[in-house]
Amino acid sequence: MARLDQLKTPLFDAVKNYVDNNVIPFHVPGHKKGAGLKELREYIGERALQMDANGMEDLDFANNPTGVIYESEKLMAQAFGAEHAFFLVNGTTAGVQAMIMSAVEPGEKIIIPRNAHKSTIGGIILSGAMPVYLQPEINDRLGVAMGITEESLKKAIKENPHAKAVFIINPTYYGAASDLKSLVRIAHRHEMTVLVDEAHGAHMSFHSDFPLTAMEVGADMSAASIHKTAGSMTQSSVLLLRGNMVAPEKLKQVLNLTYTSSASYLLMCSLDIARKQLATEGSNLLEEALNLARMARDEINKIEGLYAFGKEIVGTPGCFDFDETKLGINVSGLGYTGYEMEAKLRKEYNIQIELSDMNNILAIVSLGDKEENMATLINALKDIASKTEVIEHAKTVYIPQNPKMIVSPRDAFYSQKKKVPLESSVGEISGEMVMAYPPGIPVICMGERITEEIVDYIKILKEQRCQLQGAADPYIDSIMVLGSD
Ligand SMILES: Cc1ncc(COP(=O)(O)O)c(C=O)c1O
Repeated sequence: MARLDQLKTPLFDAVKNYVDNNVIPFHVPGHKKGAGLKELREYIGERALQMDANGMEDLDFANNPTGVIYESEKLMAQAFGAEHAFFLVNGTTAGVQAMIMSAVEPGEKIIIPRNAHKSTIGGIILSGAMPVYLQPEINDRLGVAMGITEESLKKAIKENPHAKAVFIINPTYYGAASDLKSLVRIAHRHEMTVLVDEAHGAHMSFHSDFPLTAMEVGADMSAASIHKTAGSMTQSSVLLLRGNMVAPEKLKQVLNLTYTSSASYLLMCSLDIARKQLATEGSNLLEEALNLARMARDEINKIEGLYAFGKEIVGTPGCFDFDETKLGINVSGLGYTGYEMEAKLRKEYNIQIELSDMNNILAIVSLGDKEENMATLINALKDIASKTEVIEHAKTVYIPQNPKMIVSPRDAFYSQKKKVPLESSVGEISGEMVMAYPPGIPVICMGERITEEIVDYIKILKEQRCQLQGAADPYIDSIMVLGSD
């Protein structure tokens, strides 16, 4: 394909024309450019609500783009080195589900790391695929899951030679990347489609200091949260496709099963503009973000009791490369859990970080960050450390490994269920997922056997008052298990 002009924003231009021409709106949304939603209009401004249009000829239709959305998607595809790009307005969740549903049919196997995001379980239930879980490597010092190794993939393929697809996370929430190129080569040798979750890697194509991306190493599909680290608005992501393992027509058909028929033009314009920015200025902007993250890491590592991990973890099991804009900080040397540190930073210093776990906090540094904000974070951490006694042997608490899958997630989803107190659920088969969010990695999935270790871990998460999701009971005093009363 000829090189496209990445300075162009076809969709954004069409929306600006629509606004500038003062088109009289006898169409939804019924707020009619904000006139019917005064309080919000006064707060966010008239322009944002004028842009909140709906599908029409000059603005194209997101479910079947042939005009300006199609042009903008082509630019997006080329910017990422893909052959096709599909705008998503329901996050990477929708992309993950579409990847699984288009690559794997009911009863077929998909090889998937156990630390995959909850959206994969949705994809597995919707497609009827059978998950074969791969245990990710664990970094003992940090107590967090890393990527997967070539050896573990080879072993899973040997045990499941007819699996249809391999699912890989690139990179993990904390920035660890597997050797994606080798994993793709191994999977393709066995004619397995490679699906890559790049929820945390949307920026990586645009600066050479980042781990390689799915499209760069010849994976078949990738779902990338442009909204998380590459500048667009929340919920806006992209699904990328290349090669001939999955036809674009099929992928579009699958996407349209759940795609809204009223995609937000604000979100899609933000994708158009973020892509232009990435393609034309991304390298410089990401260089600045990298410099800020590196400076902060160095400063934080001077604080006794804290460890901001970085590229030195490359070469440890499951970490082939590392995304330095993920500023993960191990806080257990100060005797705090990550949850306690997150709450402290918010309550006492007005700083909200991205996530915490038992041992770590994670700050995301991206192309919108400024030196002053980094200094505020560093100073807050210095202040906390100066008021805290450093402890010698920090405790590391791990998420329980490898719960045993007794029935498939789909069968469990459609089975009869009963409610039992969490305390007495040991030995039962779970009828729902339980996860701390973020990161959204299930502690237990539907169809898996509940163990004492899992109940104990959930109790610790509850004590830490972390945001637990997935279960019917928001406080997880009870859990749904398979069976009837
Ligand atoms: C690894 C991973 N995959 C997928 C998702 C879903 O992305 P989105 O929030 O864009 O739907 C997330 C969200 O946190 C994630 O962490």
